[in-house]
Amino acid sequence: MPATDARKAPPGSPVGPVRPRRLRRTPALRDWVAETELAARRLVAPVFVRSGRGEPTPVASLPGVRRFPVSAVGGHARELADAGVPAVLLFGVPASKEPDGRGAWAEQGLVPQAVRSIRRASPGTVIVTDVCLCAYTTHGHCGVVRQGAVDNDATVERLGRVAAAHAAAGADVVAPSAMMDGQVAGVRAALDAAGEASTAILSYAAKHASALYGPFREAEGSAPSFGDRTTYQMDPRNAREALREMRLDVAEGADLLLVKPALTGLDLLVRARRAFDVPLAAYQVSGEYAMVKAAAAAGVFDERAAVLELATAVRRAGADLLITYHALALARWLAEAR
Ligand code: PBG
Ligand code: ZN
Repeated sequence: MPATDARKAPPGSPVGPVRPRRLRRTPALRDWVAETELAARRLVAPVFVRSGRGEPTPVASLPGVRRFPVSAVGGHARELADAGVPAVLLFGVPASKEPDGRGAWAEQGLVPQAVRSIRRASPGTVIVTDVCLCAYTTHGHCGVVRQGAVDNDATVERLGRVAAAHAAAGADVVAPSAMMDGQVAGVRAALDAAGEASTAILSYAAKHASALYGPFREAEGSAPSFGDRTTYQMDPRNAREALREMRLDVAEGADLLLVKPALTGLDLLVRARRAFDVPLAAYQVSGEYAMVKAAAAAGVFDERAAVLELATAVRRAGADLLITYHALALARWLAEAR
């Protein structure tokens, strides 16, 4: 059979052979019909804030990622803003930890200090803060441990205090990440009671228990000292449950929803985009970044091309916002491409 037969129009078609390659012929045509937009304004940069002074310090497991002292974090936010990255997600890395994680809700704690210094140095930056206990507790769990188990309701009460301290410092958005039941309702009630009704909540609604958080735990020194997080983070086998978590969080007052990890959660993004009208974020977690860095360093692929493709896939699946350790590099690559 001649090759042309494969392109024959279906019977009854008035248009002749179908040739999708017509719109792939030149870069201009491809750009003109591209379905998915990736822009720096969609990006959120995770930022680690450490105690102490001096220069930013590197994180061994995350090449190119640094922990900033409070004195340098404002300048970093400014640098991000200048490159077009409008938002940061703050994580504290305290020098000392307590069994109950009390450093997390200290009014003059690391994150509140960082929020104030970013607000001064880069007034337009959208400041999101991670609300959890794991970086502040000696045991590394995300909540209050009683008799060897994480106490849900006691944890929710503490998360409310953490969120109120961040809001008082001027955070625009607080992001509870502990995966406790009722944490969005608890944080909303605590914020409202503290007179912070205009602070928004980004819910880590669909967060799978993932091996890909490994490098982050090194950055934070937050690996659990016993057990793991499978009694609170979701089983990666479950997608319907993820939708249920998101539905609950919207009902509890979440202003934005988050899916994480991004790469393993593309199906959840597709389904969440259809089911909910709130802004949807995806978190490309530390392990996703580390995989790309390692492969690029090994010469397996081009870092820039891989990062652009992975970020675009997250947008195509339905995420409005992308949290990524590549935010600054990505914003610069996008600016060059224009
Ligand atoms: C925990 C928290 C985690 C991340 C952010 N907050 C995961 C965990 O330690 O279980 C992961 C982020 C990343 O891997 O980049 N509250
Ligand atoms: Zn945590």
